[in-house]
Amino acid sequence: MVRWLIPLLAILSLSHAVKREDFKTCEQSSFCKRHRSITDSTFRVQIDETNEAIRKRYVPEIALDSQYKKQPFSSVDISAVEASIVTGDKNAKLIVTFDPFLVNVLNSHGELVSQLNREGKLKVEEFRKKEEGKRSFRDSKPFGSSSVGVDISFVGFKTAFGLPEHADSFALRTTVGNTDPYRLYNLDVFEYEINNPMALYVAIPYILAHRSNRSVGALWFNAAETWIDTSSSASSKGIFRNVLDKVTGSAENIPHFDAHFISESGLVDVFFFVGPTLRDVQRQNAKVTGVTPLPPIFSIAYHQCRWNYNDEQDVAKVNAGFDEWDIPMDVIWLDIEHTDGKKYFTWDQNKFGHAKEMIDNVASKGRKMVTIIDPHIKKDDGYYVYKDAKDKGLFVKKADGTTDFEGHCWPGSSEYLDFWHPETRAYWKDQFSFSRYVGSTPDLFTWNDMNEPSVFSGPEITMDKDAIHYGGIEHREVHNMYGMMYHSATFEGQLARTGGKDRPFILTRSGFVGTQRTAAIWTGDNTAEWGHLEISVPMLLSLSVSGAPFVGADVGGFFGNPDEQLLTRWYQAGAYQPFFRAHAHIDTRRREPWLMSESTRLAIRSAIRARYALLPYWYTLFQEHTVNGIPPMRPIFYGFPSEEQHFEEQKQWLLGDALLVRPVLEKDTYNVMVNLPFGENGDERWYDWETGVEQRAGQIYVDAPIEATPVFQRGGTIVPTWQRIRRASILMLDDPLTLFVALDSTKSAKGEVYLDDGKTHDYREGKFIHTQFHYRAETPSKSVFESKVLGGNRDAKNWVERIQIRGIDQAPKTVEVIRLSDPTEVLEFSHDRDRKVLTIRNPAALLTQSFTVNLFF
Ligand code: GLC
Repeated sequence: MVRWLIPLLAILSLSHAVKREDFKTCEQSSFCKRHRSITDSTFRVQIDETNEAIRKRYVPEIALDSQYKKQPFSSVDISAVEASIVTGDKNAKLIVTFDPFLVNVLNSHGELVSQLNREGKLKVEEFRKKEEGKRSFRDSKPFGSSSVGVDISFVGFKTAFGLPEHADSFALRTTVGNTDPYRLYNLDVFEYEINNPMALYVAIPYILAHRSNRSVGALWFNAAETWIDTSSSASSKGIFRNVLDKVTGSAENIPHFDAHFISESGLVDVFFFVGPTLRDVQRQNAKVTGVTPLPPIFSIAYHQCRWNYNDEQDVAKVNAGFDEWDIPMDVIWLDIEHTDGKKYFTWDQNKFGHAKEMIDNVASKGRKMVTIIDPHIKKDDGYYVYKDAKDKGLFVKKADGTTDFEGHCWPGSSEYLDFWHPETRAYWKDQFSFSRYVGSTPDLFTWNDMNEPSVFSGPEITMDKDAIHYGGIEHREVHNMYGMMYHSATFEGQLARTGGKDRPFILTRSGFVGTQRTAAIWTGDNTAEWGHLEISVPMLLSLSVSGAPFVGADVGGFFGNPDEQLLTRWYQAGAYQPFFRAHAHIDTRRREPWLMSESTRLAIRSAIRARYALLPYWYTLFQEHTVNGIPPMRPIFYGFPSEEQHFEEQKQWLLGDALLVRPVLEKDTYNVMVNLPFGENGDERWYDWETGVEQRAGQIYVDAPIEATPVFQRGGTIVPTWQRIRRASILMLDDPLTLFVALDSTKSAKGEVYLDDGKTHDYREGKFIHTQFHYRAETPSKSVFESKVLGGNRDAKNWVERIQIRGIDQAPKTVEVIRLSDPTEVLEFSHDRDRKVLTIRNPAALLTQSFTVNLFF
């Protein structure tokens, strides 16, 4: 360990000399470049072995956003005992002491927010040649143990979140002394249990710590199997109390949340996103790991899936069923049984002999289809993908580095494509071209499953750790990013098939840092039980705060048969979660809504329709995410960062900044407690989303009969909706909008809408419409609603057909609209005195042209 730290000290003291030109700048120092880089109050700390190491440690650089740029420091001050490094913006700072070794992270307010190695847990096992006679049966460990670990403390923070994916609480628990550490090792877990830290399909080693108005994030950038021991402590100062005292002044009673990261291999490589606010942290993370690009609009609408829709007739019936029962639906999914013997990119000719025709039929209603494509390739010389990949040497190898790795999965004996090999990526990309994927059309999208990878015959149902990838990489070093490497190659293929014109859509089960750039994630094989419905909320919140916003859970539960009550409640929750898809196991009973009783069918129908009404809002939120990284589905504290009582909330969430959702997640419950935040100044106003009636802040009890989902609109917001619900989202794209304006205590409100063609990348050329709404009381006798075009030149037809204002005591005398070219027109309105709701009818103003509505009292 000491030997390993020496070069760090040596180089640091060199740059202390006076004749600067004789000495390296940080840029010229490979160590400095490697160890520290900064963007936007972001620090990266890497600690590597010396050059004598027998093997280079793997760094999953490819998981970072391609725009991520290391930026120079604004000042570096190094002495023999300490180094101080200041970022370019706002003076966020790292102070490194060498004896003991400790990295202190200070935000731009000069507050110590995080420490690396505060508890002295830095440990690196060096690569070494295999000792003879130590061969274990499954894992030959040819390079011995190469594990790394260190503790990261979030100083001043009691509460922390993240580390997806676990079926566990949203706020991270103290594992030390209680349970196994949280485990991140992407696995296909059959019938996973809830409320425990066992590994699941996704690994994002990211923690967000939050306290009143302050946040900090840390990303442990390592793709190997990782365990994280966590503890929240009110006052202990750890072994570096003197150093801590020095940095903070006094460390008495400073709480801290500690996370001890332990990885089987890879580098100690940590990004610190130092805020100081939540939005800053979210943006800083997004700059490094990327965002979800604007999804095609169908993908944020409702998806209908099951394992399996049996044949073309079945698909046609399901498609027609939604129309017959007047339930909107955008996508029909086909699971593994649609293939010829689980050979992906092929069709079972007896059941799906006219694939293109089938897809065209579904598409003629404005809908899309998705087929499943898994990464295990059936070992069958008659299968072209297998044959090609074999001939080109594109499969993952066994420990010997030459024989193909084999395992069992759905098709039986299979091999696994190696997505580190550039030729595999190129080959895979080509498979999605319309000529290669026979039967596919631009209306067909992709589901990537089993990509942990799932290997039924492997240790823990996955790939052997000593399997070898391109370039001699051991599977152990990269396991947690296999799924991401796979779905990102699929994304490239989908992008290429239309020459980059259309937006891809891919759903993945496995994911890693950066997955959000190319796929949506669902939480895998849950169960039709109330506990699983309830846990879906913290699971999706954890993913959302960790940079992956496009997430959902199987509606209804995958295993088992939900009763009608559970199914209904699941639809109601799913309707307000980002990825909204019903799915079910092959052994379950059919669940299409019209197979249920009339009341259930109607309740499900209204949940789905509520989703479609909010699509303009959802779409605008996804657009906002592309700009600043903030997720559409947000914990309550994102809107109320200083209200501590909401920090651990995991039954209700915010949808954007305007809506608070508290669906019923409990059996036989028809009245729920909702906790409506008071806001910074204690004057927050809330309105029932359905009725517009004002609710007081604080804990309230709300009736929630089986057809109801408690949703509230925050005062001060404006929510754009579509009220003419049609069979699929694309058919609503040009529809007029109804705006819901909820007044705050100053009688004002703000909102936005973003729309485009919902399909192509033309928005990059300005073919979108982005409009801002603002309502305010100008004088006691006049209020003004303004619609202002922020940008875009899409020739959109959408106009505003209704404006509903909530929280307005008094009816105006007159309401008039002033449009750009037309004469001023007096508008009709109605005022509901009891509900305090004013409805202004038909301003008939286009979104593409700024307009004003005046209200005279
Ligand atoms: C896996 C998936 C599930 C899918 C099944 C068959 O269990 O998680 O969603 O239906 O495989 O492909």
